Amino acid sequence: MEALVRVHAAAITRGELAWPVDRLPAIPSYELSGVVETVGSSVAGLAPGDEVFALTRFDRDGVAADYTAVAADLLVPRPQILGHAESAAIPLPALTAWQGLFDHGRLHAGERVLIQGAAGGVGGFAVQLARTRGAHVIGTASAAHLPSVLELGADEAVDASTSFEDAVEPVDVVFDTAGGELLRRSVSVLRAAGRLVSVAEEAPEGGVYFVVEPNRDQLTSIARLVDLGELRPPSVETFPLTSAREAFARSLERGRSAKAVLAVA
Ligand SMILES: NC(=O)c1ccc[n+]([C@@H]2O[C@H](COP(=O)([O-])OP(=O)(O)OC[C@H]3O[C@@H](n4cnc5c(N)ncnc54)[C@H](OP(=O)(O)O)[C@@H]3O)[C@@H](O)[C@H]2O)c1
Repeated sequence: MEALVRVHAAAITRGELAWPVDRLPAIPSYELSGVVETVGSSVAGLAPGDEVFALTRFDRDGVAADYTAVAADLLVPRPQILGHAESAAIPLPALTAWQGLFDHGRLHAGERVLIQGAAGGVGGFAVQLARTRGAHVIGTASAAHLPSVLELGADEAVDASTSFEDAVEPVDVVFDTAGGELLRRSVSVLRAAGRLVSVAEEAPEGGVYFVVEPNRDQLTSIARLVDLGELRPPSVETFPLTSAREAFARSLERGRSAKAVLAVA
């Protein structure tokens, strides 16, 4: 049930080379945008020439390659209004935000959500997705990034270096992408029965930590929101596959605003 995909762009996640893998050498990068080359005989709903994007599974080799074989049920029509590089930069952070807010955080319309690290890759999608769901959105970021958090649609933006506890009224959900002190202190702004979810590290006091999983239905909804203009992709900086070493080094730099993407074809 696999498809062979001609990879056009493969995105890099900060720190991914340090993820534990039980097979080395391993091909990195788990987000792709490309074109279906061939499909297995029992694959339905997918044909050569289809333009697709995906988050691929972490337990097999990644997609920083000219071609890759992917389980067909992970491949989704990519956003029509974007190019390959921007499309490839979406699946992992957007699915992480979706699953954190809606699966683990059970966020509903009218609820209040605090997003720690709202200017980051995951946090930026979380701000936008929470807003599309009709939540009241509060985002923390460094002072320089507060305007961009408001621009993404947050109702309130709070300087993370100050005492956010004094600025934030109690919330139903905290979605943490920063970890450390911000995560530990987040417990104090939760309402009774509030939900604390982190993707940065294990959460304290009944909170949830999870690892994102590929999800075709969710990624289809995300692509639709992008095409409707309700979700903006991160800015990207592209590197040829032959400059992958430089691309991975760039992805680790603090303060960069663009996501590193390998432009393969
Ligand atoms: N569990 C999962 O499945 C999963 C999935 C995706 C990501 N993650 C994790 O979630 C976290 C956020 O990922 P991301 O892709 O959104 O990262 P990112 O784009 O680098 O954003 C992280 C944000 O957090 C703030 N920050 C605080 N301390 C930082 C530090 N030491 N280095 C860099 N930024 C720092 C920065 O905001 P300011 O610049 O405004 O301070 C930055 O915008 C990372 O720890 C990543 O490993 C986990």
